[in-house]
Amino acid sequence: MNATIREAGEQDFAAIGQLFFETVRSVNLLDYTPQQVAAWAPAVWSEEDCRRRLVGQVVLVAMEQDILVGFITIERDGHIDFLFVHKDRQRQGIGSALLGRAIELARGWSLSGVFTESSITAKALFERHGFVVTKPEDVVRHGVTLRRYRMAKKF
Ligand SMILES: CC(C)(COP(=O)(O)OP(=O)(O)OC[C@H]1O[C@@H](n2cnc3c(N)ncnc32)[C@H](O)[C@@H]1OP(=O)(O)O)[C@@H](O)C(=O)NCCC(=O)NCCS
Repeated sequence: MNATIREAGEQDFAAIGQLFFETVRSVNLLDYTPQQVAAWAPAVWSEEDCRRRLVGQVVLVAMEQDILVGFITIERDGHIDFLFVHKDRQRQGIGSALLGRAIELARGWSLSGVFTESSITAKALFERHGFVVTKPEDVVRHGVTLRRYRMAKKF
C-alpha cells in the first residue's frame, strides 16, 4: 500500500464523485446486476452532490501522489457511510488502511464501536476487521432493490 491518507477538502470532491461512480459501475458489478449498479450510481456526483452527501462526516482520502485511490467517511456516532477504492487498485490494502484510520478516529472519540451498512462486495473486508452482521436488509434505490448488511464492530 503506497497511498498516503489525509482528511479530504472541497478540492477532492470532483475526484471522489468520479471514483464512486466508476467503482460502483465496475467493482460492484461482480455482486449486483447492471440494473442494480445503475440505480445505485445513476450519474457521476457533481461537486454539489458531493457536498450534500458528505456534509457532517469526516472524509478521509487515500492518495497516490495526486491521484485519489480511495475514500472513507465516518460520522461522530461511529457510522461509516462510504468506503470505496479505485477500480484499478482493488485488493492492495487501501480499503483496510482507510478503515483502520476511521476506526482509530472512532476510538479517539471514545465511542464503544462503529457500524455500517455494507454491500455484498465489502462484507468480507468488514468481517476481516471484526465486524459482524447484525441484520441483512434490502433497500430500494430508484425502484430497484439492493441487498446490503447492517454490520457492527464493538470496541
Ligand atoms: C470493499 C472494498 C472497499 C475493499 O477495498 P480493498 O482495498 O480492495 O480491500 P483490501 O485490499 O484492504 O482487502 C483486505 C481484505 O479484505 C478481504 N476482501 C476484500 N475484498 C474482498 C473480496 N472482493 N472478496 C473477498 N474478500 C475480500 C480479504 O480478506 C482482503 O485480504 P486479501 O486481499 O489479503 O485476501 C473495495 O472492494 C471496494 O471499493 N468495493 C466496492 C465498493 C463497496 O462495495 N463499498 C462498500 C459500500 S457499503
